[in-house]
Amino acid sequence: MKIAVLGTGTVGRTLAAALSEHGHEVTVGTRDPGATLGRGAADPNGYPAWQTAHPRIGLAAFADAAAGAELVVHASSGLAALDVLGAAGAANLAGKVLLDVANPLDFSGGFPPRLVPVDTDSLGEQVQRAFPDAYVVKSLCTVNAAVMVDPAKVGGGEHTIFVSGDDPAAKETVAGLLREFGWRDVLDLGGIETARGQEMMLSNWLRIASAIGTYDFNVKVVR
Ligand SMILES: NC(=O)c1ccc[n+]([C@@H]2O[C@H](COP(=O)([O-])OP(=O)(O)OC[C@H]3O[C@@H](n4cnc5c(N)ncnc54)[C@H](OP(=O)(O)O)[C@@H]3O)[C@@H](O)[C@H]2O)c1
Repeated sequence: MKIAVLGTGTVGRTLAAALSEHGHEVTVGTRDPGATLGRGAADPNGYPAWQTAHPRIGLAAFADAAAGAELVVHASSGLAALDVLGAAGAANLAGKVLLDVANPLDFSGGFPPRLVPVDTDSLGEQVQRAFPDAYVVKSLCTVNAAVMVDPAKVGGGEHTIFVSGDDPAAKETVAGLLREFGWRDVLDLGGIETARGQEMMLSNWLRIASAIGTYDFNVKVVR
């Protein structure tokens, strides 16, 4: 599948690399490809070094990446989500599955961050309202990037990942990608409003990470 991953951070890169390894044709989206490729050229953890190590993965402006894709992954800073997707363009998202992995974290008051929105709304719902012709599916926001693409990294992969969205076929498409990563327990929470529950897990996720001293963990829903 042709997939655009909007976001050049750890999550975008991790998902892009894994999707490419699983045979997908991946383009990463950014605000300004020239600026991104020029940023930190000598930094071994910078985008240029990563791009050199992943020559099959393209880099394009958000709109160009989305235009050429059959499925779009949103992996940008949560508070910039609507700007990023607006730059991608409603027409380039229409009729496509839009996998949103972002958490709407507000660090303006320090650490730990606040969720904005929370309780009565979610980023997943905001994205679906702003782009009604896209099929928004919320998933993967409840685990660390490394665990997203390699659930077997912890607990032998015996733990749970969630999907929320209004379109059953879109959720099945995303579940297919999750199964490629190795996820076996994919729990469909329901419509996009259930993204509130996924995003609100972040508060406890941060406390668990502090308590156990690692980001590589997950929870399992035991029936
Ligand atoms: N870290 C994890 O393991 C983890 C786990 C679950 C969920 N998440 C969520 O995944 C998302 C991505 O996280 P990340 O740490 O990889 O990346 P990030 O630093 O949160 O976001 C990087 C991306 O956001 C874009 N961006 C930032 N500010 C912008 C603005 N004002 N306008 C337009 N674009 C802007 C950047 O564009 P440029 O490319 O142009 O610089 C870049 O592509 C976040 O929502 C995070 O909460 C992270």
